[in-house]
This record gives sequence, structure tokens and C-alpha cells, in this order.
Amino acid sequence: MASAQDEPKKPLPPGSSVGRLLGFLSDKSYDFYKNPVQFFEKNAVDFKSRIFQSRFLLKPTVFVGSNHGLADVLSDGGEFTELGYKTFMGQIYGDNILFTDGKPAEELRDALSQLFTDDCVKTYQQTIDRIVEKEILNLDISKPVCLYEFYKKMVTEICLSLFLGLDFEDTSDVYDTITSLTTTHWHGIISVPLALKIPGTGKESTFKQALQAKDKLLEVIKERRGTSKKGFHQKLEEIHELDEEAINNHLLLFTSALVPKALASLLTSFSLEVGQHNKVSWQKMCLLDEEFMDQMLLEVQRYYPPFLGGRRVVTKNFEVDGYTIPAGHAIVYLTFAAHRDPSIFENPNQFYPGRWKNSTSDTQKKLFCFGYLSRGCVGERLVWAIIKTILTSLLKKFELSLVDNQDLSYKWLPVSRPKTDVLFKFTTRPP
Ligand code: HEM
Repeated sequence: MASAQDEPKKPLPPGSSVGRLLGFLSDKSYDFYKNPVQFFEKNAVDFKSRIFQSRFLLKPTVFVGSNHGLADVLSDGGEFTELGYKTFMGQIYGDNILFTDGKPAEELRDALSQLFTDDCVKTYQQTIDRIVEKEILNLDISKPVCLYEFYKKMVTEICLSLFLGLDFEDTSDVYDTITSLTTTHWHGIISVPLALKIPGTGKESTFKQALQAKDKLLEVIKERRGTSKKGFHQKLEEIHELDEEAINNHLLLFTSALVPKALASLLTSFSLEVGQHNKVSWQKMCLLDEEFMDQMLLEVQRYYPPFLGGRRVVTKNFEVDGYTIPAGHAIVYLTFAAHRDPSIFENPNQFYPGRWKNSTSDTQKKLFCFGYLSRGCVGERLVWAIIKTILTSLLKKFELSLVDNQDLSYKWLPVSRPKTDVLFKFTTRPP
């Protein structure tokens, strides 16, 4: 672990210092947002390093794409870095754990983690089963299906039912109202980096609408807390460390579009692989062999992490994979790049579940799909309960295959998924 007193091995990651002089003009935000993978790969080749510096969102920024680098960045428990999300999402969400550092963050994590233990997740299983069963029963397979949309609708319903105690069998109009609000709210989240970078783009009005949607969603949340006295939000009320605002804001975070989109991303990426004609047999293998299913899910995380990375701000000189990053710099860590680091993964650009056969928990620590250690995802157990229920229920009933001749190109922002509405054909699996 780095310390400020250590002799720096290398002073700064390779990169242009001219950027700091030319400021706005040399800012690389546009290049990054246009195509983050190309941006990383080009710079990694130019600088002969998976860690390099540039200017991003008007700040000197070190991009970290080596697997060791991510382990260093994400192992820091707040001694050298702060989370860097508040600038972009602070207003749109209000205070929550993602914008909190130090002791208050630890306390919030301890409080929230109580709702995601194995025992708690078991109590959510009945709701998950009910919705998955209903949605699969109602799936119209007479024509090709856009699986991303199907998954997103199903996981949105699961999240809103779990976190707000809503039952959509009685209240489908509430579902439409809330999903329309979460969509407007989401557009505000993704408009922020551009609005910050290029004032006057019209993104400000999207942002204002998102703030209005946030207020309305908070109204719905307060109303639900008053009406429904069971389930997740009731458990949240019982945590004494959380005040009214913290409860409302965390319910907003969990019910916002971010979580369903990430879930739908993993489910779609899994389907994109097993739906290929030469891999259809993998579907049955997943059903019959739990180990193979686990290998598939590890490889989906490696190859297709829903969030391409994250951000930190350095508060004290910080050593990352041999480079010392000065205080005041931002770090953008790139999960997708760390997962394709050739010094860790053989043939990193090949989707190959077999690489995880007999893997140890140490090898699995090379994956950062859910963050790592002290700031890792608190909802991961729930995520796997939802994903495994959906995939096993779907595969038990159907065999799915990709419709021929489609554009399968992939995008990474804001959440990774195919660029177009990729379609799948379904056939009923014989008993
Ligand atoms: C596929 C779905 C999900 C993915 C890929 C995911 C991924 C992540 C990642 C990468 C982080 C760490 C961010 C960083 O260190 O910069 C994180 C943190 C977090 N996640 Fe998730 N997450 C998912 C679903 C969920 C769910 C369902 C919940 C709860 C309902 C949740 C709650 C949280 C919380 C509270 C944190 C913040 C932890 C902290 O700051 O200490 N996530 N998640």
C-alpha cells in the first residue's frame, strides 16, 4: 500500500502536461465519451502503459486500466482518496452513501449492509419468484423478443416491489408513472458530464426536468412509507442510524433506473453469448451443471461489466501500480480494461468460461464488476439472487437463439449493452 513518505518509484503516469496549460482546449472528455474503449486502447498504445494521465472534465486525471492498478485504487479505504461522484450526481440524488467518505460512510455501510445479509435476501426471494414466474408466463414468444427490454421491465418491477412494497398486479398505472419518472431522472444523470463540459448544450433543461422528477419520486417514496408497513423499506425504518432524509434518499438510489439497467445489462450479456448458434448447448449445461453456470457468470462479469469504471479524487499522494499520483488529481478507474489486462488473463478478448474452472477466490478477486473491499457493492447478494432466478426460470422453459444477421455491436456508456435492440427467438424446451 502506498504512503506519502514512500520514495515514489515513478513520479507520474505517462501523459501530456501541456494539457494543464491549455486547459479546456486539451480536455479529452469528448473523445472519452465518444468511444471509451477506443480512447483507452489508443492512449495505452501511445503511452505504452495501461495507466496514463490526461485532462478529463476539466481536471488533471489519471486513467487506470491495469488489473493491479484497480486493486490498488479500490483497496484504499479513504486514506488517499475520496469517491468522486458527488460533482456529477450529488444534486440529482441528494446525499447518500455514494457521496459520503470517511467514518460517516463506514457507518452508513454498516447500517445498509444489515438489509442485504443472506438471511435478508432469503426473505426477498418470494417476491422475486412471483414476479419472474408471472413475467415468463406472460412472455409472448410468437415473435422475436428484445431481451434487454424484457429483462429491464422485469427487474424494474422486482426492485419497485421489493424496495417500495408496490404490487403491480393491482396498480399497473403506478408502474407506468414511476418508470416514466425514473426515466426522466435517469436522463438527468447521463446529461450531467456533457452539461458540465459544454455549457449551453440544452442539457441544462434535461437536468432541470430530472430534478423535478426526483422531487416527484421522493413524494412517491414518502407516500409509500406512510401506506405500506411491510418489506424492505420497513426494515430500513428500523435502522436507528438513518434519519428521514437518509431513508428517502437511499430508497431513491435503489429504485432509480441505475440498478435495473445494471441488472438488465448482465442478463442481456449472458443471453448474447448463449444465444449464439454454436453455443446454444451451453444453455442446457447451465441448467444441469451449477459449476458451469458459475463459470459463465464470472466470465460475463469479466467480459461485460455493466459499469465500465468509476471515479476517485486523490487527497494525499497515492501510489498506484508503481506510479505516484499527486493529491488533487482525479482517477478514472476502468473496470473493463482491468478485466482485459493481458498480464492477468490469457487471450483476454476471448469469451471463455472455462478459464474459471477450479478458480480460487484469489483469482476471482481479479474481477471488479462490483467494486472491491471497503467500498464494494452492498447489494451483490441480492443481485445474484435475482439473476440466478431469472436465468434458471427462463432457460428451464425456453431455448433462446439470436435472430440471424443483426448488428451485435456493443456500447459501454452509460451502462454496457448492445447498441441496438437485439432480438431473440424462443422455442419451448421439451420437459
Ligand atoms: C448488476 C447490478 C449492480 C452492479 C453491477 C453494481 C456495482 C457496484 C459497484 C461497481 C460499486 C462500487 C462503486 C465504486 O467503488 O466506485 C457499487 C457500490 C454500491 N452498490 Fe452496487 N451494483 C449493483 C446493484 C446494486 C444493488 C441491487 C444495490 C442495492 C439495492 C446496490 C447498492 C450499492 C451501494 C449502496 C454501493 C455503495 C457502497 C459504498 O459506497 O460503500 N448495488 N455497486
